[in-house]
Amino acid sequence: MIDGFGRKIDYLRISVTDRCNFRCHYCMPENQSFLPHGELLDYTEIALLAERFISHGIRKIRLTGGEPLVRRDMQILLAALGKHVHSGRLDELTLTTNGSLLSKFSPILSDAGVRRINVSLDSLDPQKFADITRGGKLDQVMEGIAAAKKHNIHIKINMVAMKGVNEDDLLPIAHMCADAGHDLAIIETMPLGSEVGGRENTYMPADVFIEPLRQISALTPIPHRTAGPSRYWLADALGLKIGMITPLSENFCDDCNRLRLTTDGKIYMCLGSEMNVDFKTALREQGVEAVDRLLQKALRLKPERHEFEKQMANPNSRLSRTMNATGG
Ligand code: GTP
Ligand code: 5AD
Ligand code: SF4
Repeated sequence: MIDGFGRKIDYLRISVTDRCNFRCHYCMPENQSFLPHGELLDYTEIALLAERFISHGIRKIRLTGGEPLVRRDMQILLAALGKHVHSGRLDELTLTTNGSLLSKFSPILSDAGVRRINVSLDSLDPQKFADITRGGKLDQVMEGIAAAKKHNIHIKINMVAMKGVNEDDLLPIAHMCADAGHDLAIIETMPLGSEVGGRENTYMPADVFIEPLRQISALTPIPHRTAGPSRYWLADALGLKIGMITPLSENFCDDCNRLRLTTDGKIYMCLGSEMNVDFKTALREQGVEAVDRLLQKALRLKPERHEFEKQMANPNSRLSRTMNATGG
């Protein structure tokens, strides 16, 4: 699949639920409301859409949310998608999770062919972790991460860089990752969700956020790439692979390779744009042939890039959609 700007699209992010057992400040407001169950794609529909997308060239699927593992009977969807990994039609099935349910799900993920996951973790201080997540329990997440590792699932820790909130947490997290053999990704906070306040005050460019790490280690750029926008460095002194996701300080849209399927069956062509194509209605009313046609339309409509810089500078121009609605 090639979009209107000549970019090869082979990565699909599927948000399986907008619900989450945490409420991270940067992701959603405390009183977030969620979609009624009737509006969600069921697992048969998700699996059918995934199959069509794979036929058209998708090679990597990442499940996101909300928290993907809170959706009931997730093992059913994991098994259905895992078949494509086992048959070689998919190179990768992965997951972005808050880690809280990994103790239960690690064996199920492993059976489905999941070889690596990304886990959100912004502080190793239990109280600060509870504040950021509005009630999350750090112990539970750390136990989940250990369970995943035991099942040979490689872990990348996702840390959102927040000025005045978690700068002091960088070195403890970097050491923890280096000791445990995890990778680390530093993510600039994105201005999604007009009700999620304070972005202008907490935004910090990733290369400023990692300055304390630079003080203790040289950072050497390495050619490693994953499916997403991270650019990687090696922190030589720690032997730590560190990725940086810099939507605001250094645009990476030139080589964007992804589409997003939302819980309610819409394809968003860009995280930073409201433009979307409704696959649920097409699938329910017209069947799979309509899906194939709509996919071509979605590719044509994919924007060249997001406009987060303008939206950060002008709160009135912000997208009202919160991060959990599109799955990051
Ligand atoms: P891998 O590279 O395969 O590990 O995936 P990833 O890092 O893209 O996935 P993850 O779900 O862990 O996302 C990490 C951060 O990158 C989240 O904050 C996402 O919102 C962000 N991200 C992923 N894709 C895009 C994108 O296309 N545009 C922007 N602006 N941010 C993205
Ligand atoms: N800006 C940047 N990253 C965010 N995430 C959630 N909300 C935001 C935001 N506003 C991250 C989470 C998770 C990933 C899917 O997206 O930390 O790791
Ligand atoms: Fe839940 Fe992830 Fe959003 Fe935090 S960032 S509230 S863990 S979906």
